[in-house]
Amino acid sequence: MHILSSEQFTPEMLGDIFNAADEFRKQVEDDTARRELAGRYTGEILANIFYAPSTRTRLSFDFAAQRLGMGVLGTEDAEQFSSAAKGETLEDSIRVIDEYGPAVIVIRHKQTGAADRAARVSSAPIFNAGDGSGEHPTQALLDAYTIRREKGRLDSLNVVFGGDLARGRTARSLTKLLAQFEGNRITFISTPELAMGSDVKLYIEKRGLPFSETDDLETGLAGADVIYWTRLQKERPIDGSTGVADSEEEPEQDPRFILGRRALELMPEDAIIMHPLPRVNEIEPSVDNDKRAVYFRQAGNGMYVRMALIDMVLRGAL
Ligand code: NCD
Repeated sequence: MHILSSEQFTPEMLGDIFNAADEFRKQVEDDTARRELAGRYTGEILANIFYAPSTRTRLSFDFAAQRLGMGVLGTEDAEQFSSAAKGETLEDSIRVIDEYGPAVIVIRHKQTGAADRAARVSSAPIFNAGDGSGEHPTQALLDAYTIRREKGRLDSLNVVFGGDLARGRTARSLTKLLAQFEGNRITFISTPELAMGSDVKLYIEKRGLPFSETDDLETGLAGADVIYWTRLQKERPIDGSTGVADSEEEPEQDPRFILGRRALELMPEDAIIMHPLPRVNEIEPSVDNDKRAVYFRQAGNGMYVRMALIDMVLRGAL
């Protein structure tokens, strides 16, 4: 089974993945269980093929696989150091890697749709670790897992997404996942040129997930259960479904969208503040000490969710 889009997960599957992630957390925290776990998939190899920069996604897949006893290899800059630099197509490179018999191929690429292209030629499961401005499904899973851990549920939530939603593939994938649950409401906070793509809005509209759009933090943050912030993703391509594609100039960081003391005052006491990271300047460091800030825990959750995903895909349990 390939993991290409958050659209492929049902609430039942999420429940299974999250329970498995909880189980792996317990095992990793226990010295004896952790060492036993490291014998589970000896002889299997995960290929981590990254054509675009990454810290958390690549390393948490690496940690996850090694904690399960797998070997890990790959490249952190395939664009420069693989035959892509000589003009080889993605399809040809993936075909060859697949010949070596990896258990899983994790791929990140600058182009939207790259993971789907890889999946068409690979017999090993492809995990989409972010394709251009498209999707980042494993991030959406760890984000949903974080919401469930922090808020105790994935339904009846007011979820606010803010920042660069036009290119925020993590926000795109998570928004679609939230449409699977009853009673959620979404608020998108951005300038018009960085608005959420119309494809995602259409998708959630069809599934009955209500949303509104604003560029006003005061209305946007009031009543929020979850605040999901994103950075200006200048290096990403823009898809035609968003307003930015038509604008010539790269937008600058709008100072209104930097979360600081004032934004904290606008948020409910029991809200949580999430961010896929990297954070650049859109959340002031002073926010880190607020009890509502969960973004570092959120990143830590990624390893357990990825352990669960690798294990379940290899067992055919998904
Ligand atoms: C995100 C990504 O790569 O889409 N990072 C991540 O994987 N946690 C967000 C970003 O790059 O801003």
